[in-house]
Amino acid sequence: MNVNLVLLPGDGIGPEIVKVTAELLTLVAQKFGHEFKMESCHFGGIAIDVTGSPLPEETLKACLAADAVLLGAVGGPKWDQGGPRPEAGLLGLRKQMQLFANLRPILPNPELVSASPLRPERLVGVDFLVVRELTGGIYFGEPKERRQVNGLETAVDTMVYNTAEVERVSRYAFELARTRRKKLTSVDKANVLETSRLWRETVKRVAVDYPDVTLEHLLVDAAAMHLITRPASFDVIVTSNMFGDILTDEASVITGSIGNLPSASIGADKNRFGFPRGLYEPIHGSAPDIAGKGIANPVGTLLSAASLLRFSLGLEEEAVLIEKAVDETLKAGYRTADTAASGQASLNTQQFKAKIEEQIERIMAKTK
Ligand code: IPM
Ligand code: MN
Repeated sequence: MNVNLVLLPGDGIGPEIVKVTAELLTLVAQKFGHEFKMESCHFGGIAIDVTGSPLPEETLKACLAADAVLLGAVGGPKWDQGGPRPEAGLLGLRKQMQLFANLRPILPNPELVSASPLRPERLVGVDFLVVRELTGGIYFGEPKERRQVNGLETAVDTMVYNTAEVERVSRYAFELARTRRKKLTSVDKANVLETSRLWRETVKRVAVDYPDVTLEHLLVDAAAMHLITRPASFDVIVTSNMFGDILTDEASVITGSIGNLPSASIGADKNRFGFPRGLYEPIHGSAPDIAGKGIANPVGTLLSAASLLRFSLGLEEEAVLIEKAVDETLKAGYRTADTAASGQASLNTQQFKAKIEEQIERIMAKTK
């Protein structure tokens, strides 16, 4: 397969983890006889420094023409002082690529449960997937502005959803639930918000087409609680943009290893291969405190690349190879600093990558 990928290394540890991931992708391509062309583009804070915009025209064009996009992380204190923000680039790209569904799988690694803030027995059986609506809601609603009201500086954001937006993302979530344990939890705030009442109505209507999937509705405040008290009871969760943002940070932290978690943002358009175009990125941020030290954990990005192979290229075997190599490396006890237990030795990014390479070679040799 001849594939065109765009890499957006971004800020902080982004460039370090994307570089390692690109090298491992090249190795996987070699093993399976593919050619992955990878073009790096400026995005986020670095793009502001170079071009004045967090999403330069050239970067946007490249992303829209690519088969899939891999992102490191954006943002940092340097761009917090007023002026354009790196995050605006991410929002613009989500909108332009029509990335309507953001998938964040929460599957604690059994090797790392001791790092979770929850008691280990609470983590037994935890395996769920949050589907976050990503191109609507309060993130994008208009008006969004400052104005003077009765002589007071006032700010307005607008939460807005239409039935088409809710139907598209909930249908996608029902389809995913069908491939799993057939349970869908829709999260809203229907006791207060009109958008949530429309959300709930629409999800109920879509549910008629999925009689095999059990549907549950939860208010977002209760959902925040149940993620802690009964995380194993969830299978697929579907929710709006802002609720999804908040709940996925909470969900990721209960795994004890946010640095290992991938995410996939699925586009409405298809790429040249008939798969959805998508943007793939780790859940964690740019970690400016450790940037440039060569100690960042590449697992979140690497597993995001595996999702890229699966969802945007249909390369299941190649995706599984990466996931297995990561699993085996962790099982063998190798850790980067962020996931090492106190007193446990840790590897730097390059050393960790070498261990993953060894696993890839070993697994490939075994399957021959
Ligand atoms: C995320 C991030 C972004 C969001 C920020 C960086 C704009 O927190 O991807 O969850 O709020 O969506
Ligand atoms: Mn977030």
